[in-house]
Amino acid sequence: MKFINIKELGDCVGDEVTVKGWVYNIRSSGKIAFLQIRDGSGFTQAIVEKSSVDDSMWEVTQSVTMESSVEITGIVSSHPKMENTFEIQVSSVSVIHTAEEYPISKKEHGPDFLLDNRHLWIRSKKQWAILRLRSSVYGYIEEYLREEGFVRFDSPIITPSACEGTTELFEFEYFDLDKAYLSQSGQLYLEAGIGAFGRVYDFGPVFRAEKSKTRRHLTEFWMMDAEAAFVEHEENMKIQENLVHYVLRKVLENNDTELEILKRDKKNLEKALNPFLRMTHKEAITELKKLGSDIREDDDLGAEDEKILTEQHDTPIFIEKYPAKVKAFYMKRDPEDESRALCSDLLAPEGYGEIFGGSERESDYDVLLKSIHNHNLPEEDFKWYLDARRYGSVPHSGFGIGLERLVAWIGGVKHVRETIPFPRMITRKSP
Ligand code: 4AD
Ligand code: MG
Repeated sequence: MKFINIKELGDCVGDEVTVKGWVYNIRSSGKIAFLQIRDGSGFTQAIVEKSSVDDSMWEVTQSVTMESSVEITGIVSSHPKMENTFEIQVSSVSVIHTAEEYPISKKEHGPDFLLDNRHLWIRSKKQWAILRLRSSVYGYIEEYLREEGFVRFDSPIITPSACEGTTELFEFEYFDLDKAYLSQSGQLYLEAGIGAFGRVYDFGPVFRAEKSKTRRHLTEFWMMDAEAAFVEHEENMKIQENLVHYVLRKVLENNDTELEILKRDKKNLEKALNPFLRMTHKEAITELKKLGSDIREDDDLGAEDEKILTEQHDTPIFIEKYPAKVKAFYMKRDPEDESRALCSDLLAPEGYGEIFGGSERESDYDVLLKSIHNHNLPEEDFKWYLDARRYGSVPHSGFGIGLERLVAWIGGVKHVRETIPFPRMITRKSP
């Protein structure tokens, strides 16, 4: 008898094996019982025939409750109709723990109920697929960056100042040192990191006290920031495009199981392997007006604008050169038009909208200091940051990925609250 994970069943057809897991569904006629079993690695069906087990074991199949933990032994067989699907013809079943009546059933539950029970909801097939996809995507991003020579350089979460504007900061008292803030992005620290390592990235939770209740906003989400010395605006976009292509190719190669459960059409992802569309902010405004938006020349793109724009196209779109005044203080200005920033937002197709934000950074000390003043930021807090422009300043660029938004698009998931294990939103801080 061999103990195996469900994902290994395909290698064990004809063998007697033991699987340990949970019962996620039960069906039974008088003579045969079907136990749907999951063990974290996958899902399978265990078939118990009354005539081939003793009475006490048959009794177990009649009384076992949903989500009880069990140990099952039997012979592995191929599903008679479905390819690549395997079952267990059970010879023995025992219960490790009998679950109480499980609150999540097959019937429709409202989102609040499911979110209140997030600690259990994660066991359901769809949530399992989404969070596995998240884990994979996380790994692919790291793989790509390491292959491209980026060094992991983690940034602090407790910070003395704002990175992305002061209106969305979580603030708290920090012992005798006055106020501190939860990080909105590690970028400023990464800019220091390139002075030592040339190319760096971080990956961790960041925080936005955003009062947005949309399907793409969380108050705590995971960001990957990357930063590279001697990289200018154009190359910065190229790195982002290559990264997305790498991640998509890996997902298409390795994540069929998840995509199938999510009913995600692979064609949508394959189309995104084409070169990304590029448009300037100005061109985007023109197209948006044609599409009926009342957006003005100098406006930032709103969620609705990004939605209608990206519904028109199959590939992600880089929107470049936003008006500098709607963007962060650190962005370098476009030498051809000083009112614009050398930046790009990467919008995912199918209405998903912004998934990456990036720019070339201002590398001139005086210009940057002026920008800090213009944004009413305290110069004192940014002294260390300005030092990169005093000791061997170089042209450099970087970008940040919102992991939950990237996974939502890749998996075809509507709301980012399902692409993180335990979502934090303005109306939710538990479980
Ligand atoms: O565009 P953002 O604000 O850019 C920065 O923070 C830069 N400092 C990053 C950098 O250049 N290193 O955020 C980056 C990404 C967005 O494109 C979006 O995908 C995600 O983070 N994001 C959010 N995701 C979920 N909920 C929110 N409230 C988010 N705000 C931003
Ligand atoms: Mg942004």
